[in-house]
Amino acid sequence: MTRVVLDDVWKAFNGTPVLAGVTLGIEEGETLVIIGRSGTGKSVTLKHIIGLMAPDRGRVHVFGRDIATLSRRELLAMRLKIGYLFQGGALLNWLTVAENVALPLREHRHELQDGEIARIVREKLDIVEMLPARDKYPSEISGGMQKRAGLARAIVMDPSIILYDEPTSGLDPVMSGAINQLVRRTQQVTGATQLVVTHDMASAYAIADRIAMLYEGRIIAAGTPAEIRECADPVVAQFIRGDPSGPITNGEGPRALPGEENDNAHAA
Ligand SMILES: Nc1ncnc2c1ncn2[C@@H]1O[C@H](COP(=O)(O)OP(=O)(O)O)[C@@H](O)[C@H]1O
Ligand SMILES: [Mg+2]
Repeated sequence: MTRVVLDDVWKAFNGTPVLAGVTLGIEEGETLVIIGRSGTGKSVTLKHIIGLMAPDRGRVHVFGRDIATLSRRELLAMRLKIGYLFQGGALLNWLTVAENVALPLREHRHELQDGEIARIVREKLDIVEMLPARDKYPSEISGGMQKRAGLARAIVMDPSIILYDEPTSGLDPVMSGAINQLVRRTQQVTGATQLVVTHDMASAYAIADRIAMLYEGRIIAAGTPAEIRECADPVVAQFIRGDPSGPITNGEGPRALPGEENDNAHAA
């Protein structure tokens, strides 16, 4: 079954097109990685899947339903079945790791007793190997550990779809490797359908069942890692070589290079 379908999705901000006909399906149980440079609309794509943004044109189907047709209540219910690992981790600094992970349960599972919540939190922290750090505050742990704690929180409601926004950004290669492994393991342990967006090619190869490249508002290539590696499209070839010197442009002047990611640029 196709869990998520983006069908000719268009989105512009202040007249500037960001998504210009994105068409993509994500199959049940697969880990699909969307690659693309900073500012190409990867985070915007994720926000369409959880209904934080609505397309100007086109359709988004999740769990077989067109999310534009869902009532507010149905949309909220759908979001509870989707885990979202935010780019910045988004832990609350005044809560411990365990309290952060417990938060969605406290908010949405009022029937659970404290002991049951503690058991579920332990189980999820164990998956991400963060049990020893459960009583630490976010400021006391490394960036990689913050990502892991964020992942434990993202899976605490047993989502059947997990979305990851740049899970390795800002991490050193060793930490990135650990997170890549963890994304794979999470898929094996939970059986979830996963969508990862990243500009980190090494991470894409390590994680993906399939890779899709977003460029100038469209998916210009999609296939297995081996197929993408062999892709004849010069834009894809250039991106996977990590070569920033070539002709990549959308006609609006220079683009940010990989690593210059700034998710808040549009808020400035
Ligand atoms: N809420 C918004 N309002 C206006 N512009 C936005 C908004 N969200 C994203 N954008 C713009 O859309 C483009 C794609 O952003 P984004 O999806 O965050 O890129 P990335 O691929 O790095 O995740 C950027 O030019 C960004 O400034
Ligand atoms: Mg982003």
